[in-house]
Amino acid sequence: MSTPYGQDEIAALQEKAKRHLWLHFTRMSSYADSDVPVIVRGEGAYVYDQHGKRYLDGLAGLFVSQIGHGRTEVAEAAARQASELAYFPLWSYAHPQAIALADRLANLAPGDLNRVFFTSSGSEAVESAWKLAKQYFKTTGEPARYKVLSRSIAYHGTSMGALAITGLPGIKEPFEPLPPGGVRVPNTNFYRAPAFVADDETAFGAWAADEIERAILREGPESVAAVFLEPCQNSGGCFPPPPGYFPRVREICDRYGVLLVSDEVICAFGRLGYWFGSERYGYQPDIITFAKGVTSGYAPLGGMLVSDRLMEPFVGGQAAEHHQSGGPVQARAASMAAGSATPTFLHGVTFAGHPVSCAVAMANLDVFEKENLLGNVRSNESAFRSTLEKLTDLPIVGDVRGDGYFYGIELVKDKSTRLTFDDDESERLLRGFLSHALFDAGLICRADDRGDPVIQLSPPLICTQEHFDEMEQILRGVLTEAWRKV
Ligand SMILES: Cc1ncc(COP(=O)(O)O)c(C=O)c1O
Repeated sequence: MSTPYGQDEIAALQEKAKRHLWLHFTRMSSYADSDVPVIVRGEGAYVYDQHGKRYLDGLAGLFVSQIGHGRTEVAEAAARQASELAYFPLWSYAHPQAIALADRLANLAPGDLNRVFFTSSGSEAVESAWKLAKQYFKTTGEPARYKVLSRSIAYHGTSMGALAITGLPGIKEPFEPLPPGGVRVPNTNFYRAPAFVADDETAFGAWAADEIERAILREGPESVAAVFLEPCQNSGGCFPPPPGYFPRVREICDRYGVLLVSDEVICAFGRLGYWFGSERYGYQPDIITFAKGVTSGYAPLGGMLVSDRLMEPFVGGQAAEHHQSGGPVQARAASMAAGSATPTFLHGVTFAGHPVSCAVAMANLDVFEKENLLGNVRSNESAFRSTLEKLTDLPIVGDVRGDGYFYGIELVKDKSTRLTFDDDESERLLRGFLSHALFDAGLICRADDRGDPVIQLSPPLICTQEHFDEMEQILRGVLTEAWRKV
């Protein structure tokens, strides 16, 4: 494969990257004696580095590239929109692409989720959902409700509010104290279920859901605003919900007046074969947060879909403001100052619902429909699962779990006892060997030890059996080698 980069350019990229670029969640010292990986181009399910070497993008970038790379029709939609109207804020104004996309998402979303509040990222979507929950309860006479429940090891983003909801102690500790109100409940890792429910997935699900009720009662129901749950939890290595879990959680939320927020930053837009993960598992959220796959990464965008019920206290205010003089911004300030009964949601960000991002999202969803990508995931997901399950003959593979095109492979030291690796072994195995070896072998995936050590796969939704086989073969070779190093 040819590359547009000559040896001098490659050396200059390395030098500048090492001197000036700060990579996210990356131990920069690890590149002191080795090259920073530089990805220069993508096509379909593959990306290419500056040397022209090809990699199967088994993580869709970062759970993002649903339609795959190099789609010129989406790039052209971005260029058209940038030429026509590159930017205008959603603060008091609308633009046609945001309107069209809000309408389209409202039609795709389950139940009465009818209103879209755009953001520019997933963390901002989660942050917005918590802020909306707080202001909603203040507005509707329950001002003491501010706490949020979320699951152990779950990742919900990195801004301070989202980090308070995130359940990974290691990435929170440097930023403590975080906003108060984040409360942890157990996750649904059946492979690591407590002994008294380890043989019965339904009983495990009932226990895990009831732990949410116990936490609400412990905290005081009058203080709890929302429960944030992913349909299939990413961090820890893809925990699907046990049978009966979400219906029971919905009942519990209803019993105590707590909002159910489905954080679908990963699970929406086909990852699980449906537009929304909640649809796949048959529950109705009060809010859905989304980002990533809504644009397949051709531009950044996030948002939340909100039910009519949550919007209701804010709607009258919006109508009233338009009839006041002095323009909408001044009218809003006047309305708040006067203690109007119809408040404004006092929240926004500059790039939310960016016109180019919304145009890209529309073109992305067109590709989904034209190529029936949801159908592709649904008809191929069992083949994906059974191809990955072949790896269970390896001594290091303890569990293969997930749904749709979203899988985690848990690595263990002893399969019969499910003994996991200690911190040193994990460090050597995942950071020292597996991440590099998988990349060198041409597979982009994630080796993660923020919970028990796992390899995660989340390929573009265009993938078929040939890609599953390629993933399985690369993993087989590298995991066999890893076992020799244990
Ligand atoms: C479930 C979930 N929520 C929130 C986020 C934060 O999204 P972002 O990185 O776009 O801020 C992520 C990111 O991976 C996520 O997986």
